Amino acid sequence: MDNIKIEKMSISDLDNISNILEREFDDFWNYNILKNELENPKAIYIICKKDDEIIGFAGITIILEIAELNNIVVKKSHRGKGISSILLSNIIEIAQKNNCEELNLEVAKSNEIAINLYTKFEFKQVGLRKKYYNGEDALLFTKKL
Ligand SMILES: CC(C)(COP(=O)(O)OP(=O)(O)OC[C@H]1O[C@@H](n2cnc3c(N)ncnc32)[C@H](O)[C@@H]1OP(=O)(O)O)[C@@H](O)C(=O)NCCC(=O)NCCS
Repeated sequence: MDNIKIEKMSISDLDNISNILEREFDDFWNYNILKNELENPKAIYIICKKDDEIIGFAGITIILEIAELNNIVVKKSHRGKGISSILLSNIIEIAQKNNCEELNLEVAKSNEIAINLYTKFEFKQVGLRKKYYNGEDALLFTKKL
């Protein structure tokens, strides 16, 4: 896709999308939670821009040699066009450059699209947390880096 850029995410990027965050991206992550994440020195967040529009973001927290994918979200109007795949490849590269040995994540059992994305990137399911998200089971996935 043309004019796609990946950049490190700043608080001003978050401010830029704050009005549309929950409606046009995803309502699971609100402004305050993401602001805390961006202020965490162990977290690394990136955005995907098309021209000057922020159309997706993703973040990891790194503790020693383990990276945890906190979120990966694409703007609703830009889904199904490969944007999360671009974000996830960049996240994997960043985790590798930071000497991480694995990338872990949790995903709601019903989130088929995200599970397809993780399977495409060769994550393996390694566990299940009962009633993790508001009563819904979460699947644990990991990828060796
Ligand atoms: C999950 C999400 C990030 C996918 O973003 P996207 O940019 O639309 O995904 P892509 O276009 O890069 O597709 C990646 C893969 O996801 C799967 N996928 C994408 N859209 C799909 C659909 N409508 N149905 C089934 N699988 C789908 C496919 O495996 C696809 O790979 P392929 O196109 O090579 O077959 C996006 O739906 C989203 O933001 N959802 C809300 C937030 C969320 O649930 N995040 C994950 C948990 S934190």
